[in-house]
Amino acid sequence: METIRPLYPMALTLTLMAGALASEISLPLRARHRALDTQPARPAIPIGQPFIVKPPLGLPPVPAPKDNPLTRETVFLGRKLFFDKVLSRDNTVSCASCHDPRHAFADPKPVSGGVNGKKGNRNAPALLNIAYSGILFWDGRAPNLEAQAGGPVENPLEMAHSLVGVERKLAASPVYVDLFAKAWGPGAITWEMAAKSIASYQRTLVSGNSRFDRYYYGGDKMAMTPSAIRGLKLYLNPSLKAANCVSCHRIDVKSSTFTEDRFHNTGAAWDPVKKTLLDLGRSLIQPGPKMAGAFRSMTLRNIARSAPYMHDGAIKTLEESIDFYFDGGRPNTNISVDMPDPGLPDIPKAEQAQAKKDLVEFMKMLDGDLPPDAVPPDWKPPQP
Ligand code: HEC
Ligand code: HEC
Repeated sequence: METIRPLYPMALTLTLMAGALASEISLPLRARHRALDTQPARPAIPIGQPFIVKPPLGLPPVPAPKDNPLTRETVFLGRKLFFDKVLSRDNTVSCASCHDPRHAFADPKPVSGGVNGKKGNRNAPALLNIAYSGILFWDGRAPNLEAQAGGPVENPLEMAHSLVGVERKLAASPVYVDLFAKAWGPGAITWEMAAKSIASYQRTLVSGNSRFDRYYYGGDKMAMTPSAIRGLKLYLNPSLKAANCVSCHRIDVKSSTFTEDRFHNTGAAWDPVKKTLLDLGRSLIQPGPKMAGAFRSMTLRNIARSAPYMHDGAIKTLEESIDFYFDGGRPNTNISVDMPDPGLPDIPKAEQAQAKKDLVEFMKMLDGDLPPDAVPPDWKPPQP
């Protein structure tokens, strides 16, 4: 298939090279400006075979942006990049180093270690079903997967590389030159193409058909245990005097993502001893007291696999996470009005121990199938 990418950037590269040979000063202004500009004049559009993701039971169709429809070639390339340490400055860290396929693509460590073992301050979330999130990161600072991918590459605590540096490294690899040409047509490799490919791969990581899905959407009444069915009833109870999980981790009529693109202060960032928020959360992006200490309510799908929990990975087990909500989170001045009342007074004291077990049992029903080809055939789990 013929490429639809314009030759324009190529022509400019030549102008630039010629200019650089003469002298920096003699560069045409437009070319100098273009050299610093990371946004291409026109978006790169994939070529190749369309890739259809069939949504599993319980999940809606997978959305994709108009200028980055999924193709077999970009998904293949994106998967290779995701698992390749080439994206980090010293070739020690890949996306999968912190997003481990064995843990729903989350990090089993509370906070992740990047290049030289440097540590960040937040837990790496699960990436299964990330295709459905309209806003990304715990504080929502990235609008979509395409924009997100550059974050870890440039973060000095994570991959500590530059996007231009990555472009150069990829261009020096005959294997990548070939894969990029197949996915994006001829021409220079750009970060935009890499980011879009990684985004397309991540959109294939859908995981549904869990025991909950078979029970709730598939009509299989035997798919969930009686304890989990009681847990679901508690989960759906919208009273603030009971669990009220559903108002922030959604369950819908035809399908469920178990998340929503809103932010809430549950008190998870509140230090009751120091009486202060240890992470300002959403208010770092959207200033104001309402968003102080507020984070995205992450999906609960595959939650049993993605311990530890919360933005700081401070809660180690599902049991502890339920204790947290039975305490009404950690009360503080900015706590969300949707958080349950401490002690959940509508659940009789004598029934509370069982209610907690039922909620945990319900969350264990949210483990879905892993999509086929999520992991490259030659991938070996890193040594601990
Ligand atoms: C050093 C560890 C580390 C590496 C390497 C890393 N990530 Fe992450 N990732 C994180 C952490 C920590 C967060 C949460 C950061 C936050 O919300 O502030 C995150 C968040 C994300 C999110 C948002 C998830 C959500 O639910 O909002 C996506 C998507 C993601 N990473 C993809 C990638 C991709 C793609 C790569 C490789 C290019 C990558 N990550 C490399 C640690 C890492
Ligand atoms: C007011 C909205 C709200 C309600 C109600 C709520 N949650 Fe959450 N939930 C959140 C937010 C926000 C986070 C992320 C908090 C953070 O990390 O600071 C979260 C995180 C979690 C996590 C950890 C997710 C992860 O990937 O680390 C679990 C488990 C969880 N909630 C379960 C529940 C259960 C079970 C209930 C009902 C008992 C419930 N939630 C009720 C908003 C809510």
